[in-house]
Amino acid sequence: MDNVIDFINVNREKYLDELKALLAIPSVSALPQHADDVKRCAAWCAEEMKRIGLQNVRLIDTPGNPVVYGDWMGAPGAPTMLFYGHYDVQPVDPLDLWESPPFEATIRDGEIYARGSADDKGQVFMHFKAVEAHVRQNGRLPINMRFMLEGEEEVGSLHLDDFVRAHKADLKADVVVISDSGMFDRGVPSMCYGLRGLVYFQIDLRGSSTDLHSGMFGGAVANPALVLTQILAQMKDRGGRIKIPGFYDKVRPLEEAERQAWAKLPFNEKKYRKDFGIPKVFGESGYTTLERTWARPTFEINGLLSGFTGEGAKTVLPAVAMAKVSMRLVPDQDPETIMNQFEDYVRKIAPKTVELKITRMQGGKPWMTSFDNPFVQAASRAIERGFGRAPVFTREGGSIPVVSTFQEELGLPSVLFGVGLPDENAHAPNEKLDISNFHNGIIAAAYLYDEMARVAVPA
Ligand code: BES
Ligand code: MN
Ligand code: MN
Repeated sequence: MDNVIDFINVNREKYLDELKALLAIPSVSALPQHADDVKRCAAWCAEEMKRIGLQNVRLIDTPGNPVVYGDWMGAPGAPTMLFYGHYDVQPVDPLDLWESPPFEATIRDGEIYARGSADDKGQVFMHFKAVEAHVRQNGRLPINMRFMLEGEEEVGSLHLDDFVRAHKADLKADVVVISDSGMFDRGVPSMCYGLRGLVYFQIDLRGSSTDLHSGMFGGAVANPALVLTQILAQMKDRGGRIKIPGFYDKVRPLEEAERQAWAKLPFNEKKYRKDFGIPKVFGESGYTTLERTWARPTFEINGLLSGFTGEGAKTVLPAVAMAKVSMRLVPDQDPETIMNQFEDYVRKIAPKTVELKITRMQGGKPWMTSFDNPFVQAASRAIERGFGRAPVFTREGGSIPVVSTFQEELGLPSVLFGVGLPDENAHAPNEKLDISNFHNGIIAAAYLYDEMARVAVPA
């Protein structure tokens, strides 16, 4: 391994320039005007995968954006790892809040700033470099490897479940590795063993065929903006508990051992409030902040739109009101059941004074694994070697829907090997990645393949 690690250390500076080229491609999957950029990014990844020594590299078309596939299967008897990541990124708005252009990666204070630096191009790139180092130095990898990069993660992986089902043989493996999650804190590497699921809706209300003069009609016609807020106000009680009937039926209670372990993590609520400008934390009573984000479901309004929001005043009764809302789910909540419960509840509480339309946008199941899995243990040793400190075990509040698909369709456990920090502005202006975590992540990934190679697998 020493020669592999030496190679990584020697090339350290070069990696940042290479990563900049990947970060320069605005592969925003949510916006049609970036469709060509998304394709260009897939092609860039395919080229890079060939260059670092992966074989059978190809773009596989889906009804949406292509999956980039490549493999190296030259280690008979050793395990096969399926690497999953995404090359698409979130939109950059509000653009004026970026301190440097989102697609011109810029280095400041030990961080590389660009859209996609942490989520997820920078983390995918760590594995490109770890593979390259093994192949250049030893002419081989210690394990068999299949790479699969998707281009629709940030819009809900709409075609990925079908893709996995249609390519079961191509994806045959022993374990999935994903670097698309976080690390607990600076200097506190972690292994994530649980993710929340997600359901997402748009609610549209219409109260009249056109905007109305609020003097001539106000008081006699329901205001859809007010009705919408009244509906939304009935989603949570004052203690932060969600009021959708049946919502908590399948929620797996937190285990006492888990609560105790999390209570020992170096979480500083005061700093958390300060870092994110939060006057006072709020959440379901009876739970700590970590418990609320990792192990409890929630309901959020992601966006609200209605009426006059320009400068000055306009006396108008808006014709329509719209909200985007989502719920994060935890084991063993089922997205389909929750979607039905939510729709039933909204239909029940919405008054007849407005037309109601509910649109299902995306969904994904929650996921959790037990960490006595030998691959998780191998990953934890690799993290210790890369970061100089054994990882703490965490769950996270974010969602990666395909993780449960890998489990259900391919029977594969996943190892979440993430190095993003909570303050790295994923999905927000000034997204960044800590350069020393990036570098240590490459080293840890190089060790990961080596550690995983020693896990015994059925022939
Ligand atoms: N990388 C994130 C998921 C994530 C974030 C995992 C933080 C662990 C910690 C991913 O790119 C993402 O943003 N997922 C979406 C899922 C959605 C679009 C279906 C999310 O969590 O909102
Ligand atoms: Mn991601
Ligand atoms: Mn994301």
